[in-house]
Amino acid sequence: MKPSVYPPTPTPAPTPPPTRTDLLDEGFAACPYATYQALREDHPVHYDEITGLWLVSRYADVRRVLLEPETFRNDNTLDAITQLRLPALRRLAKADFDLPPALFNNSEASHAGLRALAMRLLSAARVRSALPDIERIVSEELDALDEELARTGRADIAQTVARSVPIRVVLHVLGIRNTLDVETLYEWTAASIELFWGRPDPDRQRDLADTVAAFFGWLTEIVQRTDVPEGSLLMALRRHRLPDGSPLGTDQAASVLYTVLVAGHATTGFFTCSAFLRALQGEGTWQWLAEDVERVPAWLEEVLRYDAPLTAWRRVVARPVTLGGVDLPAGAELLLLLTSTGLDTEVFPEPERLCPERPNLRGHLAFGIGVHRCPGAELARAEGAAVLRQAVRRFPDLRWAGPPRPPYLASLAFRAPRHVPVARTGGRQA
Ligand code: HEM
Repeated sequence: MKPSVYPPTPTPAPTPPPTRTDLLDEGFAACPYATYQALREDHPVHYDEITGLWLVSRYADVRRVLLEPETFRNDNTLDAITQLRLPALRRLAKADFDLPPALFNNSEASHAGLRALAMRLLSAARVRSALPDIERIVSEELDALDEELARTGRADIAQTVARSVPIRVVLHVLGIRNTLDVETLYEWTAASIELFWGRPDPDRQRDLADTVAAFFGWLTEIVQRTDVPEGSLLMALRRHRLPDGSPLGTDQAASVLYTVLVAGHATTGFFTCSAFLRALQGEGTWQWLAEDVERVPAWLEEVLRYDAPLTAWRRVVARPVTLGGVDLPAGAELLLLLTSTGLDTEVFPEPERLCPERPNLRGHLAFGIGVHRCPGAELARAEGAAVLRQAVRRFPDLRWAGPPRPPYLASLAFRAPRHVPVARTGGRQA
């Protein structure tokens, strides 16, 4: 069968001028491409009045920002985008919730050592040695999917494989053995994402803060454990020394653990959702991948480019600077539109094609670049490839069973379909 490497053409929707686009609107999240194009062409560095952030949309400008960490610092990456009200703040304070500089939010001297620690734990060699376990976890979760499809005729990838595999894998690779179930960790992370990168109203903020406080309580408890296995993240945190020779405080260790856990499974889960959606909605794509599973890794690279799971990320300007022809004062807060960079025709001709033969296949910025580039990139790639390879082999007749344009998560930083409904051709109808 001749594959279509094109994603389905989105139904043209009226595009509001980019100057009036609400970045936290679900409609925008579902199809941000036209707005991004308008921004890249006419307003490459544009002040967004709704969020108070400068939107940076061109590949070259975003790349430059990421490669100049002293001018463009990352101190603001974990600040809540919606102002938190007193009841929520009180609940967080009561739980001593605090995220001192760790990785994502660290422009200080302590970053290099903590990053080296993360790079060691997530090195290509460690990922390689974890591959048999990753394949086993994927296989078990696909067994569960198989059962659900047989029982009900339908399943939602977003609530099954894309949720369970990344959580089980990240806990395994980081050596975190615990009694925590997948659902609890998922709920904790989902609450963090909504509280810090969404637009919850004050009542919702209060409930989310309770959940995030419970998450933080657990983190604080496990970083204080003494019975931790060799080679685990917890052991590495215990042994770590800051540049002045002092050990990490409990709050700093909890902050590192928080960022690695959230970054380690949420992004990969969203990546899995987008990969299933594009593979099942692209005409003939699922079968084309099933015919030769060695096509999977290169094709997934295109999903990362087109549907960057971390869709946008923040920086703050440290000194007056000119970016994309716009003068920015110190303190200006930027939002780097990573998804937009993958569609920049200066770098990716015919960007709307998911084209695994691109010469610069790995040139996208979905994993960032520079001193904060994602240390989990190889793990995410290995996981994504294991899931899709096994899925196309086991379910060559899987089909999309949702609306052509499913609802998307409305978040300033993360982007993925909320649901990925699937069924088997000829299988039981729901
Ligand atoms: C498809 C999946 C993933 C995507 C799209 C992704 C994306 C990113 C991006 C864009 C950055 C750079 C942020 C910046 O420049 O400030 C980053 C950093 C980071 N990622 Fe990932 N990531 C993924 C998977 C993972 C995994 C599996 C882990 C760990 C298990 C992980 C851990 C981290 C950490 C700790 C950082 C901070 C590094 C630093 O500040 O030095 N990520 N990620």
